[in-house]
Amino acid sequence: MFRNDLLHKKRILITGGGTGLGKGMAQRFLKLGAEVYICGRREEVLKNTAAELSSATRGRIHAIPCDVRTLDAVEAMIDTIWKDGPLDVLVNNAAGNFIARTEELSPRAFESVIGIVLMGTLHATMACGRRWLKAGHRGTVLSISATYAPVGSAYVVPSAISKSAVEALTRSLAVEWGDRGIRLNAIAPGPIPTQGAFSRVLPRPELEKLALERNPLHRFGTVEELANLAAFLISDGSGYVNGEVIRMDGGEFLQGAGEFSNLGRALTEEDWASIKPRKRTS
Ligand code: HXC
Ligand code: NAP
Repeated sequence: MFRNDLLHKKRILITGGGTGLGKGMAQRFLKLGAEVYICGRREEVLKNTAAELSSATRGRIHAIPCDVRTLDAVEAMIDTIWKDGPLDVLVNNAAGNFIARTEELSPRAFESVIGIVLMGTLHATMACGRRWLKAGHRGTVLSISATYAPVGSAYVVPSAISKSAVEALTRSLAVEWGDRGIRLNAIAPGPIPTQGAFSRVLPRPELEKLALERNPLHRFGTVEELANLAAFLISDGSGYVNGEVIRMDGGEFLQGAGEFSNLGRALTEEDWASIKPRKRTS
């Protein structure tokens, strides 16, 4: 889909790059010529991913353990990376989430998810943004949001609060920093099977089935499709795309929004035939 050198010489940090979508993006970016840094809390997971991807792609990948909830840890990681030169791209992908009834959540449960998704994104974005602005270096931030960010969602409230704030941050800074060479965009994916997400938000087969049924394409997205869109958005070829949140969900969001969109499932062929106006005979 892309030239092999699309991301040649781009230096990219992917938070949460040791697993799932982050790992998939790392793989794709390496194949497109980028040098990739991945971070996460679990050192072993990061090391294994880095070893696997460097042998599969022969690209340069570095693993740095870091909890993005802690500002000092993020600053230390970014300092370490900057010693080898500035990053060109930050991908805010690290997240925490689980389904729960909101009235049963403890303060720590809220703090945990908001800490990863909102504060982690803020820490990393500010750490890179300040350095880019100071040096007059061009930079791109891509954040991974979720389709419920603009409307909210029951049962994932800490995540919904945080993702909507991440989208507000994206749109705000796209304007504030745009004329200084910094672009910010986001992707809002629908369900894409990863162990981390599905074990926490679709933990039973019947929930997966429901999610498949209500999607107009009747399938989940793939890591490759997400990585394709991400590669496009961080490449120079999309240089005029700024402050956008691109939904990538097979039309699932629109299916839920349209007043009559569920008629396809509710009405049979016979129903449609009986609803059709009959030709007048007189
Ligand atoms: C209620 C829960 C809970 C649950 C944890 N908690 N899981 N409360 N229901 N299922 C509470 C705990 O009891 C604790 O509160 C507090 O949250 C913190 O939990 P810890 O386990 O101590 O936190 P920590 O080890 O930091 O783990 C963070 C986490 C965990 C978010 C809870 O799930 C995690 O590490 N997630 C990372 C990966 C992830 O979530 N990936 C999915 C992203 S998918 P108390 O008060 O008891 O101490 C996504 C979009 C999906 O974001 C959209 C699909 C369409
Ligand atoms: P995942 O595999 O669980 O990825 C989450 C990653 O974040 C993990 O590698 C995790 O590693 C890291 N992480 C969590 N807390 C962290 C912290 N405090 N500091 C640093 N890293 C941390 O799930 P995924 O499905 O790939 O999700 C990736 C992104 O896509 C998330 O932003 C998610 O909200 C979004 N998304 C996913 C879907 C989907 O269906 N898969 C749909 C919509 C949006 P450690 O645990 O080692 O820290």
